[in-house]
Amino acid sequence: MNHGIFEKNSLILLIGILIVVSIGGIVQIAPLFMLSSTIEKVEGMRPYSPLEQAGRDIYVREGCYNCHSQMIRSLRDEVERYGHYSLAAESMYDHPFQWSSKRTGPDLARIGGKYSDAWHTDHMRHPTSVVPASIMPGYPHLEKTPLSYADIQDRLKTLQLVGVPYTDEMIAKAAADLEAQVAPDTAAAKELLARYPKAQIRKFDGQPAGEGVKPTELDALIAYLQMLGTLVDFTKFDASGPNLR
Ligand code: HEC
Repeated sequence: MNHGIFEKNSLILLIGILIVVSIGGIVQIAPLFMLSSTIEKVEGMRPYSPLEQAGRDIYVREGCYNCHSQMIRSLRDEVERYGHYSLAAESMYDHPFQWSSKRTGPDLARIGGKYSDAWHTDHMRHPTSVVPASIMPGYPHLEKTPLSYADIQDRLKTLQLVGVPYTDEMIAKAAADLEAQVAPDTAAAKELLARYPKAQIRKFDGQPAGEGVKPTELDALIAYLQMLGTLVDFTKFDASGPNLR
């Protein structure tokens, strides 16, 4: 038979292998180039509010991704520990994404709502105060550092450039929305909530809240953590399709 050619000639065998493997590779990879159809839109996902986004920037700046992943795999032990496996849509507004590659600490994709703000404040200040065996470093400077957000408009604009659907109104109101997230029961807070459904509005670091109060870096970080994994309602989500749009 013809396959004798392949068996007797290693170079032809190699070329044959390359052709077969690349067909498999193309079938898997080519659809991913059409990203808009690869990531199914899921109800509930929205761009991050300016304060959440600022918190995310602190998360990246402090290198939290060196020890924490944000990607729950569809394996039984992970789903039982962390909750529903991560959907592609849940990180579609992440630039750069925070899936990470290493878990020295637990996955944080669904950390939102797991603990109180006070727990996070204590934990960030001094992790062993709430988890005695913790090896996580403390970040006590965050609650003492006023958040710097003079460039928040530019940051949102940059994200808009790479495809995050911030509207021009969201960008124009970025600084006001950021301040509104630590000023509950104000008119500005209502506006924020209309633009960013499910945004949690309060002073996150335990310091006094209200109009004119400037957020700290810890406010931004906790606002981000408390949002993670809470945007999609998994009591209604059905992976087979009806909830996708
Ligand atoms: C050197 C590795 C390391 C770094 C860096 C690190 N962590 Fe951790 N983190 C851990 C470990 C280990 C735990 C588990 C023990 C504990 O809860 O403190 C943890 C736990 C946590 C938890 C609680 C998770 C849960 O489900 O109980 C949160 C939230 C958290 N880290 C946030 C952060 C944030 C935010 C940063 C960056 C500012 C950060 N971590 C940086 C190692 C790290």
